Amino acid sequence: MTDLVVRRLLVDMEQPIARHWCAGDAFRTALFNALSMSFPTGEQFFIDSVRNGFKELPPAQQEKFRAEVQGFIGQEATHRRLHALYNGHLDRLGLVNEWEARNLERFRQLEGVDVRHWLGITAANEHFTAILAEFMLRNPDLLGDADPRLATLWLWHSAEESEHKSTAFDLYQALGGSHEWRVKWMKRVTTLFLMETLRQTVKNLHRDGTLWQWSTWRSAASYLFGKRGLVRETYAPWREYFRRDFHPNQQGSSAAARWLRDHSDQYVPVGG
Ligand SMILES: [Fe+2]
Ligand SMILES: [Fe+2]
Repeated sequence: MTDLVVRRLLVDMEQPIARHWCAGDAFRTALFNALSMSFPTGEQFFIDSVRNGFKELPPAQQEKFRAEVQGFIGQEATHRRLHALYNGHLDRLGLVNEWEARNLERFRQLEGVDVRHWLGITAANEHFTAILAEFMLRNPDLLGDADPRLATLWLWHSAEESEHKSTAFDLYQALGGSHEWRVKWMKRVTTLFLMETLRQTVKNLHRDGTLWQWSTWRSAASYLFGKRGLVRETYAPWREYFRRDFHPNQQGSSAAARWLRDHSDQYVPVGG
């Protein structure tokens, strides 16, 4: 079982954020902002999946999972709250969150569906988040230092995603979720996640007036496909999810542990 600590982050998200907070880079700012827009609804769905999945477990199994599930819910609830404040600033900058409404509609369609499907979707998303988190923690300089609050927010969130990456997966397995459906959901989630990320990023750039600037496209090419490119670095760990004997803990999370150790002055543990 994983010991999950809930932390209160010592950053002031009430203060407005700059238009190009990420190292003055329009593309990277638009991409991270797009991801942030999906979090409050997405993370609520993950919380509901894990909470409802937990309820379906036989009592003996529940005892094994109780503390971890509580920690998972506490961590995701904290992420939601801070990203909602962050997204409020994006609204005031004139950006429009279209991802959120589509998320809510999809989740509405899943009402009443077997909880193992919810967990299969959540486990796939959590794998995505965990490999993205590891990438961000290994390349913190790519977040820039123009706004240390946001760099801290993203790295703290990444570290906790890495910490709780196996919770939904383990619940899925404990409830007898099949390998076939796990893989099927990963394929669907991948298509949807990439499509939605692209769509919202383009939308953000369009509203920002930087969509057709050469520097935006140059930054996109280098951030995604360059020497330390996101796609290049995350493809192999993404692929491993399809193996029958895959488990999230097979993938390292040393960057997360290191960040939490080196930045203990940035947060206060509030329980788990
Ligand atoms: Fe999260
Ligand atoms: Fe998560």
